[in-house]
Order: sequence, then structure tokens, then C-alpha cells
Amino acid sequence: MTYHFNKISPTAVFCARMRSKQNIPFSREIVELIDTKYSEYVRDLPDYGDTLTSKSDFIPFIEGRYYSLNAVLNGIKNTFIVELASGLSPRSLEFLNKSNIFYVETELKELVKLKEKIIREIINKNKLNDSNLFFMSINPLKKEDINKIGQFYLKKGKNKKLIIIHEGLLMYFNKKEKEKFRDNIKYLFQNYAKKGVWLTSDFSRFEKKINEPKGKENIRDKISKVTKRDFYYFRSIEEARQFLMADGFRSEIVSNKEVIEKLIEEKGLQFNKEIILESAYGYRVWKCQLI
Ligand SMILES: C[S@@+](CC[C@H](N)C(=O)[O-])C[C@H]1O[C@@H](n2cnc3c(N)ncnc32)[C@H](O)[C@@H]1O
Repeated sequence: MTYHFNKISPTAVFCARMRSKQNIPFSREIVELIDTKYSEYVRDLPDYGDTLTSKSDFIPFIEGRYYSLNAVLNGIKNTFIVELASGLSPRSLEFLNKSNIFYVETELKELVKLKEKIIREIINKNKLNDSNLFFMSINPLKKEDINKIGQFYLKKGKNKKLIIIHEGLLMYFNKKEKEKFRDNIKYLFQNYAKKGVWLTSDFSRFEKKINEPKGKENIRDKISKVTKRDFYYFRSIEEARQFLMADGFRSEIVSNKEVIEKLIEEKGLQFNKEIILESAYGYRVWKCQLI
């Protein structure tokens, strides 16, 4: 089963390369390491076309969703954050040294081993304090792995709020897998942290309508070939809400207007403000909790 999902892992390299084109802290260091010291352990996408060189007038999706989720996380105090399918994302590094935060990075076994080496190397080089950071090999579709998270939370997370996050994961799962994933998060919260919070922007992207133009940076067809998976999105906000409600999750969509307005200003993109803010709906974070 894991072999099957490992085929999705090269998409983590894609995301890392996209991030490194922006000013996301540590994103360039990560790509530098995967292209040099760790290149033999990395499974990359075979063909990026002109994806990485194409210039976009807008805030790239990869950057917008990264900052949108960070902003929500920064607004919650005293947390035990578990990032599922963290790929080669540098997010955990931004939460080092923050008081009252415990951060657990998780991924499939092969990738999490590589990720830990890379992150520890950056930590050592920059003399950062990593006492609140942990790595675990987790496939959230497996009940025993969900129990692993729960047990670890009971051991280390006393009095902290359990927060589950992920980005760029759900679209690779088919309907059955999505349901299993949702049921497992419910199981985790019911058994280990009833007030747990599930945060993701993965519910904010919807299936494209026939004839709707593909974005400039779209290499979905190529990704589908490598991962042997189609992209499976919900069709609407209502369908996604229904999917969550069916298992007893209430959901709230958190505005990212302030975050994106700040980025627009930093990047001097005011002339395109309205269009950018509209596209930012595609990466608003959903906050889901058991009713
Ligand atoms: C598009 S990448 C996103 C990675 C990261 N979240 C980011 O934004 O860069 C999708 C990730 O999902 C991971 N993945 C796929 N299936 C998985 C599963 N069943 N359990 C855990 N991780 C999985 C892959 O290894 C890959 O790193």
C-alpha cells in the first residue's frame, strides 16, 4: 500500500521548487540540499515543462496557501501541531523557538527520513533550537498510524491543543481514501483530543468546469502520469461542507484577505489587487472541528 502512495512523493519536490522561487524562509536552502548532497535520494518529477520559469503576475498559489495557513496557526496559542504529508516544506522551521508550540512533522517513511536529515542540517547550520520539533513516519490512512499520533500527543502534548494540518494532499486521494482520511481524523479527535482542530486549504480548490482555462503553472497532466493518480477535487463549497458534516465536522472558512493584502503590498501588485484577492479564495483555510 505504501509503495502505491510513494508514487505521489515526487510532487513534494515540485512544491519545494515552486516555493524556492519565492521569498519563503529556508525554501532555497532545502532545494540546494536536494540538488547537491541528497540528490541521489530524491525522486523528482521527470518533466517540469516551463512551469518553474514561467512568470506569473499573481501571488503564486504555493506561496499564498503557505502564508494563509501560517497566519491561522499563528493565531492559536499553546498548540501541538501535527503536519501530515509535510513533504519538503520548511514550515516547521518557522515554529521553532515559539513558546508553547510543539511541532510534529510527518510523511511517508522514505520521505520523512530524508526530510529530517535536511531540516536538521539547516537547524545545525543556523544554530537554531529544535527542542520542540519531532519527525514521524505516518500514513494517515492507516488506523495504527493515527493511534501513533494519538499516543504521542498524550505523552507530549498535555494541556495543548491538538492541531492537524496538511496542504496539497487530499486532491491525490480518491473518494474512498478521502472518506477514510476524514474518518481517521474523527477517530483521532474522539479518542485523543475532542477539541482538536483540523486546518487545511485543501477544501478550497474545486474541480474545474469543462472548458475552464488551465492556469499558467498547471502541470497536472504530467503529475497524473507520474503519480498514476487523477486529481479529485470537490465540486463546490457545499459538497465539501456536506462531506465534513456527514462525519460530524462543522467547518468554518477563514478569511485570508489581510495576509494576501500584505503580500500584494510587499510585491507591489496593487494594480491587480481585486483579481489576486479573488484567486486567493482558492487557498483559504478551512477550520474543522467535531460538533
Ligand atoms: C503535493 S505534495 C505536498 C507536500 C507538502 N505538503 C508541501 O506543501 O510541499 C503531496 C505529499 O503527500 C504525500 N503523501 C501522499 N500519500 C500519502 C499518504 N497516504 N500518507 C502520507 N503522505 C502521503 C507525498 O509523499 C507528498 O509528499
